[in-house]
Amino acid sequence: MTDPLIETKAVGMAYAASDGQMSNILSGIDLQIGAGAQIALIGPSGSGKSTLLHIISGLLDPTEGEVTWPALGPQQNLMPEKLQVVFQTQSLFPSLTVRENIALPLLLAGRPAVPGFAPDELLAGFGLSELADSLPEELSGGQSQRIALLRALSVCPAIILADEPTGQLDSATAAAFLTKVIASADQIGAALVIATHDPAVAARMRQRWTIDHGKLFAATHAEALT
Ligand SMILES: Nc1ncnc2c1ncn2[C@@H]1O[C@H](COP(=O)(O)OP(=O)(O)OP(=O)(O)O)[C@@H](O)[C@H]1O
Ligand SMILES: [Mg+2]
Repeated sequence: MTDPLIETKAVGMAYAASDGQMSNILSGIDLQIGAGAQIALIGPSGSGKSTLLHIISGLLDPTEGEVTWPALGPQQNLMPEKLQVVFQTQSLFPSLTVRENIALPLLLAGRPAVPGFAPDELLAGFGLSELADSLPEELSGGQSQRIALLRALSVCPAIILADEPTGQLDSATAAAFLTKVIASADQIGAALVIATHDPAVAARMRQRWTIDHGKLFAATHAEALT
């Protein structure tokens, strides 16, 4: 069996509440994410989806347990080529154009784009070419989210962790966008983890993981639809 991309053992996260008491957001999370996995991370607002994505991306240290990246190497070497995060909030660099934002991970990685994944090719493939020379301030929230996802794809990473990437899109645009994202991830063999509130988005992924009262429950695609 090949090593998982990400593995957690007994991961927990607690924050100090305003009264000084510790509040457990996540507890006892054991997960493995393999190459090419396709996972929807679901749960109500405040359940800990973003917190878990930040922990498994190596950006946030859990207060309990251990996270490792067996197939990717040490935490300090994860980004940008191996692991890409698409944040829930606006994350484009304001002084760079859309094209420059998408090109940034390639620049940091110091290598050319894989054919089909150059910034202009991605923009064309996703029907967003007219935004290439725009600055982030000129974009709608939904456009910014899509550009951030194209930026993650540009470097063909082993895994993309995307936090509600369709949260600001109407359902038809979200569905069309997700179809292209899944096809692109499959093309490069990238694993995809998408945190979402949207049952239609979750239903498209091969696995659904639900956070409920700090615990993670896994269901296969078939189970989740029954
Ligand atoms: N830095 C922090 N300090 C204290 N509490 C925090 C911090 N970050 C998150 N929390 C709390 O952790 C809980 C989970 O937050 P998180 O953002 O992970 O939820 P979520 O499932 O992503 O929600 P949403 O669907 O609204 O994005 C919330 O109760 C939140 O208030
Ligand atoms: Mg969130």
